Amino acid sequence: MIKILEHQSLKSYNTFGIDTTARHFVSVQSVDELREALLLEGYSKKFILGGGSNILLTKSLDALVIHLAIKGIVPLWEDDEQIALKVMAGEVWHPFVLWTLEHGYGGLENLSLIPGNVGTAPIQNIGAYGVELKDVFQQCDAMSMETGKIHTFSKDECQFDYRDSYFKREGKGKYVITSVVFVLTKKDHVHNTSYGAIQAELEKRGIEQADIKDISDAVITIRESKLPDPAKIGNSGSFFKNPVISEESYQSIKKEHAALPGYPQDEGGIKVPAGWLIEQCGFKGMRHGNAGVYEKQALVLINLGNATGEEVLELALKIKAAVYEKFGVHIQPEVNIIPQF
Ligand code: EPU
Repeated sequence: MIKILEHQSLKSYNTFGIDTTARHFVSVQSVDELREALLLEGYSKKFILGGGSNILLTKSLDALVIHLAIKGIVPLWEDDEQIALKVMAGEVWHPFVLWTLEHGYGGLENLSLIPGNVGTAPIQNIGAYGVELKDVFQQCDAMSMETGKIHTFSKDECQFDYRDSYFKREGKGKYVITSVVFVLTKKDHVHNTSYGAIQAELEKRGIEQADIKDISDAVITIRESKLPDPAKIGNSGSFFKNPVISEESYQSIKKEHAALPGYPQDEGGIKVPAGWLIEQCGFKGMRHGNAGVYEKQALVLINLGNATGEEVLELALKIKAAVYEKFGVHIQPEVNIIPQF
């Protein structure tokens, strides 16, 4: 039997630590409980909450907030080389990554320490240090919010892209991911150590033949040095996506700003680091009320204590306008702004 709470504070359910409330709130522990909550009548709006690590709550939610707390890791098949694991949506991402490493399974080491839950990871195709979720993803189960029926989505159906998927576009508000199947390696792991910061960290540690645990340790050290720990300073990781601009725009900005970094994309265009653009506009370490820009990584907005979601949003809008004015580049939030931006 599910239990509906009223006027529940959401402060501990979002990594920004924004103190808003949900008019109605239920935490579901199983797929059946999720279905029961989704099909409840008498609630005009239902909002699905996973790890709360990629949202900015700007208002109290006049909705039934359904918190996903469905746990479990089930091996589906394995051979000498690989193992397929079905992982329930409410498993917390980083402890799950550590569990795979303890078992000697490779594939998730570069994605260590990313905040959030397993079920929300495919929505924005989480990525870091040269690896994206799609590289180890096989399929996921998702429940229709309207009918309560489960549909299995293949990798193709998920339409993964940079910090993007079907669930962020056409599927938005239609499905709740209930479990994800990952295929990981048991031997001959593919090591992604080409990212400069990883190489530098491994060299510093004197490691020549890195194993998956070494890579994870290096990633953890790098992330801890650049990104604030949400348990100490409220944040949602990168607030904006890195924009991809045309070669012409890139060259024209570079005429005035010779140091502009840029990474050519396979699909065309040049990806430029939003953190660099924001820093050049003078925002790094800047404060706006109780919100701020992290002093070690300008792409990360932070809650300096009791910030409201509106304060963070105001700061984000100021940054977006300043970047457009200085560089003519539109930067888009990566974080989901609730209600919609
Ligand atoms: N930079 C600056 N100033 C800053 C921040 C960055 O100049 O304050 C420039 C530097 O030139 C630096 C470059 O930006 O070399 C790239 O910075 P970094 O390696 O920190 O990566 P990022 O592009 O800022 C992306 C992801 C992160 C991920 C890292 C590592 C996005 C939106 N963000 O950040 O993901 O951890 O790469 O792979 O793609 C997240 O999505 O929440 C997240 C933290």
